Amino acid sequence: MNKTTLLRDYLHLQLFKLKKTSVQESKQKSEMLIQHCLKISKADIYLKDILLDKQNIDDLNIMFDSLIMNTPVQHIIEETFFYENSFFTPPGTFIPRTDTELLVDCAIDFLSTKKTKLRILDLCTGSGCIVLSIAKKFPQNDFIGIDKSSLAIKVAEKNQKLLKIDNVKFLKEDIFNLKINKVDLLVCNPPYLAKEEIESLDSSVKNHDPEIALTDLKDGTTYYKFLISNFKSLINKNGAMFIELPYSPVAKDIESINKKLNSNKSTYLKDLEGKNRVIKIY
Ligand SMILES: C[S@@+](CC[C@H](N)C(=O)[O-])C[C@H]1O[C@@H](n2cnc3c(N)ncnc32)[C@H](O)[C@@H]1O
Repeated sequence: MNKTTLLRDYLHLQLFKLKKTSVQESKQKSEMLIQHCLKISKADIYLKDILLDKQNIDDLNIMFDSLIMNTPVQHIIEETFFYENSFFTPPGTFIPRTDTELLVDCAIDFLSTKKTKLRILDLCTGSGCIVLSIAKKFPQNDFIGIDKSSLAIKVAEKNQKLLKIDNVKFLKEDIFNLKINKVDLLVCNPPYLAKEEIESLDSSVKNHDPEIALTDLKDGTTYYKFLISNFKSLINKNGAMFIELPYSPVAKDIESINKKLNSNKSTYLKDLEGKNRVIKIY
């Protein structure tokens, strides 16, 4: 392409190439790459006659080459919008999902009813998206985010700096070997896919979200069994635990485990489709 390439023509060509691949929602993903690279709005892509220079084309080509390999856009642009903020999500990090915003809403509702200073723990924090979204709203409380992955902790700390939040401490620990005092609220979005579910995932997930973030390499219930059985040693009086549930038949297994193992009260919070997506134990 020469230096008078029109953005509209460039996009057309890339969409033609993407049509021949397994990349899903290629138009939406292409728009996201272009918006990020050229710092323009979605409307500008179609309404303005934007000319691309050589540098623009080189930058866009690198991004589209990754997209054609089914790399998630959030890893290509190293950014994911979650709840009310943008989070740094480089390759190797678990990409925050919109579904998890329900867990943030649950935690915010719970904390809104409390007057005293509380301790809040986010287990399996990943990019820190859950704990940072909550902590931003409750600067008076103390928050801890824990993850076993060194990369996750580095990324979460970078997100904390970017968002200028100073009431969260991130620790590299294994949740099955926790060395911390009880908390008033625990939130967790654990790896909840069964080992055999991994094979059927789209390659944009299977080859890019870290395996440690997706599955317990068993039946998907390991983290739930642990958290439900350890409620009393983790949570202070009048406290609560909110855990995200999978959008899969494993959710029913977790509900049965909860009936069997849980000696406390529990309730389920539903998503917009009416599916149980968060369990509250209190
Ligand atoms: C599903 S991701 C959730 C990340 C983030 N909370 C979110 O919702 O986007 C699960 C996270 O759990 C972490 N993890 C897996 N096993 C762990 C363990 N035993 N102890 C601590 N963290 C663990 C992974 O590194 C990953 O970051």
